[in-house]
Amino acid sequence: MAGIHAVANFARTPVSAAKARVSVVRPSYVKMATLDRVPPPAPDAEAELEPRMPPGPRLPRILQTAGFMFGSSPWFIDACRRRFGDAVTFRTVFDSQFVMVFHPALVKELFHGPGEQLRAGEANAMLGPVVGERSVLLLDGSEHLRHRRLMLPPFHGRRMHTYVAAMRRSADLEIDAWPVGEPFALLASMQSLTLRVIMQAVFGYAPGPAEEDLRRRVRAMVEPLARPRSLALLAALPMLLGREPAMNDRFASARRGVDEVLFAEIARRRGLGDDALQDADDVFSALLLAEDEEGRRLSDQEVRDELVTLLLAGHETTATGLAWCFDLLLHAPAAHARALERDELYLDAVIKESLRIRPVIPAVGRVVRGGPFRLGEYVIPTGIEINPSIRVIHRREDIYPDAGAFRPERFLVDNPPDTYSWIPFGGGPRRCLGASFALMEMRIVLDRVLERAALRAADPDLAKVQFRAITLAPRDGVRVVQDRPPARG
Ligand code: HEM
Repeated sequence: MAGIHAVANFARTPVSAAKARVSVVRPSYVKMATLDRVPPPAPDAEAELEPRMPPGPRLPRILQTAGFMFGSSPWFIDACRRRFGDAVTFRTVFDSQFVMVFHPALVKELFHGPGEQLRAGEANAMLGPVVGERSVLLLDGSEHLRHRRLMLPPFHGRRMHTYVAAMRRSADLEIDAWPVGEPFALLASMQSLTLRVIMQAVFGYAPGPAEEDLRRRVRAMVEPLARPRSLALLAALPMLLGREPAMNDRFASARRGVDEVLFAEIARRRGLGDDALQDADDVFSALLLAEDEEGRRLSDQEVRDELVTLLLAGHETTATGLAWCFDLLLHAPAAHARALERDELYLDAVIKESLRIRPVIPAVGRVVRGGPFRLGEYVIPTGIEINPSIRVIHRREDIYPDAGAFRPERFLVDNPPDTYSWIPFGGGPRRCLGASFALMEMRIVLDRVLERAALRAADPDLAKVQFRAITLAPRDGVRVVQDRPPARG
């Protein structure tokens, strides 16, 4: 996530130092291009070191900034893509130069490039004030690998099945609370659902007062970041912390509210001893027990940072993905009818297609360090951020014919889109650590809602896309109506 997914890599600013970069959404698009990219002839070694930036618009930076900022449609990037090709250099007031890439072959080069040289952590630096400096999202190189290895086991294999019950239970709680006969916003309900899942599966809290208290504190910290203009807040945090008292106080006190509970819980669990932790099925306990090759465990601060990271990375994203999924399905009668049969493969295809057409994170980022990086026919100098545009790649007509249409069947063929053309979770050694968790959660929730509730769209058109700090969210939160009470759970 360049910016968590630096997510919405859209603006970058030399906030204080290289560490404090801001990456935001750079929506974009695509003109047709062949996937059979032939590698360019190897230039001589001397020339190879010479920077060679991709072409880009000559418009003043202020106008390019406006092109990114105004409107939810990526018309500006679309136009640049058509004019300049699969890699384009942009300049905004936040970032004097960055490169966006739109071709799977270039994405492959980037995802497989050396982690020391292509720094996702640096691209995500604007999340530092929230997730902490020891978060896997912010680390690069060997420290990143160490944290990732320690965090991976609870997100794989058999362990994943222990989360199913929490996911189903959370879906039921939401379904039972929906009004009958009047419109309501699905996004808010999905936010509450996915937060509950994280509380139980990741934090290991059983429903009750302690879980409710932590949930309230977490929402107080995260909610301001999920508002439409939150990007400015996120970008400004590194500058404002310590300088602007009101902002500093508000944010710091919300963060302290979460930290108090987390550090106390870390101490309590460490006090229980390893045997008790081994019996627990949650990610929190697994993080306390995890050891690297030298037998070192994560410090209290590192455990805190990773817990907040999982919260931030896993809660709003999955909720937004689910809201979009229902929006698309409820506006596609044939796909909806087939989904009601609840065939697992078809539901997976529905989810993949909705993450294609409405990717939650529009772009990821890698900052070049320690020498120029060769990208296709270009040589990108150190200090430049490169952003694969998920949004644009997912709309390439040469990969996805009739790319604007919602067609889950695309993912049911023998050769479905590959790991460089379907990239809602990024890729390479930085690929989303919770991808399987998120896909499983989305399938369980989708299945449960289709089984129990008769939903229909409240509005004739799909929701408009709106940039938030981390996600591309539905503007009105996806309004739906439930015409009759849900079937019993
Ligand atoms: C639909 C839901 C989700 C989407 C669309 C999503 C998307 C992403 C993306 C695009 C990245 C950046 C990858 C890159 O730079 O190549 C990422 C990273 C990450 N995600 Fe997710 N994510 C989702 C859910 C989750 C969940 C449920 C969790 C955990 C509970 C999670 C944890 C993480 C972590 C820890 C990273 C950082 C990985 C690293 O830097 O090594 N995500 N995610």
